[in-house]
Amino acid sequence: MNEQLQRILSYPLWRQCIDLGNGYTTTGRVNKALWKGLHFPDDVKGKSFLDIGANDGLFSFMAEQKGAVPIVASDLYKDTIGSMEDGWSDEGINLLKEYFNSNILIHKNGIYHLNELNMQFDVILVNHIINWLDDIELAIKNLALASKGSVYISDGFLLETNLKDSITPENMPIRSLYKPSVITSLLKKNGFKIDAVTEINYQPFFINDFINFPTIKLNEHTKIYKLPFTDSDFILSGAVKQISYCKVGNFYHVFQLGWVHKNDVTVSYYKPSKFYTLSKLTGLLNIYYSFLNYKFKRKNNYTYFIIKATKLN
Ligand SMILES: C[S@@+](CC[C@H](N)C(=O)[O-])C[C@H]1O[C@@H](n2cnc3c(N)ncnc32)[C@H](O)[C@@H]1O
Repeated sequence: MNEQLQRILSYPLWRQCIDLGNGYTTTGRVNKALWKGLHFPDDVKGKSFLDIGANDGLFSFMAEQKGAVPIVASDLYKDTIGSMEDGWSDEGINLLKEYFNSNILIHKNGIYHLNELNMQFDVILVNHIINWLDDIELAIKNLALASKGSVYISDGFLLETNLKDSITPENMPIRSLYKPSVITSLLKKNGFKIDAVTEINYQPFFINDFINFPTIKLNEHTKIYKLPFTDSDFILSGAVKQISYCKVGNFYHVFQLGWVHKNDVTVSYYKPSKFYTLSKLTGLLNIYYSFLNYKFKRKNNYTYFIIKATKLN
């Protein structure tokens, strides 16, 4: 394992799961399946590309592999460990930029400062960030400044039947939920035409997470390794429960902590429900997912949408 790969695997804070080759990935969870799942464009070859809220750079590096050029990854990047509410550390994306020998440009000041780029882009992705924005009007205005083509805005949105246009839920780690119509009218006001507003059923992603990621109970004196296959760095005192994000050989990665050997922890996988198993066997998973989505919407009053719009000249 070369030194660069070691540095990437020992970085504890990946949020996104990015392919590194030879079966290795970063230890985050959000992965490349989203590109297709959210109907992002397949053909970005030769197109200028802006990834807003780029985080660890998943979509930016994917766009580079698909031939987009130039590519700007914008986030509220900080030099220190970030939290989602007020930005993200740029350590991860910088490690990967070096590893991939990538030409992506990193913009550290986020959506409210896109004017600093002095550029207009053919394709802009805005995935899972509008829920974190306080000033949505300024954000869409800046999007218009930076666009000369298509924008894809995807997130959780309030159902149109809700009585309020926007809402800030209590006790949720997000700041705001909007109705799709609030965003589409802001887009129109700023010179976009709306191409499509498509509901995204997130249940397959949720279930995939649920089935594939085990719960890990860290036993007292569990050894924490900085890297899989190396000597342990320190021993954890006290038992904590954590979710693992990634497995390499006999090691699991625990977010923010490091690697643990499977013999030192108690691992349990969630069992899919009988309905899931039956629907899978009978080829009716899509109906099952629709049913779950219906229940989700009734309970939460919001769901996921992707809005595609084109800038008019
Ligand atoms: C939920 S994450 C989504 C990351 C990525 N787009 C994805 O789909 O996996 C939200 C991201 O938005 C970033 N963010 C928050 N405020 C921002 C702003 N004003 N401008 C740009 N990015 C921002 C956070 O730092 C974080 O990386």
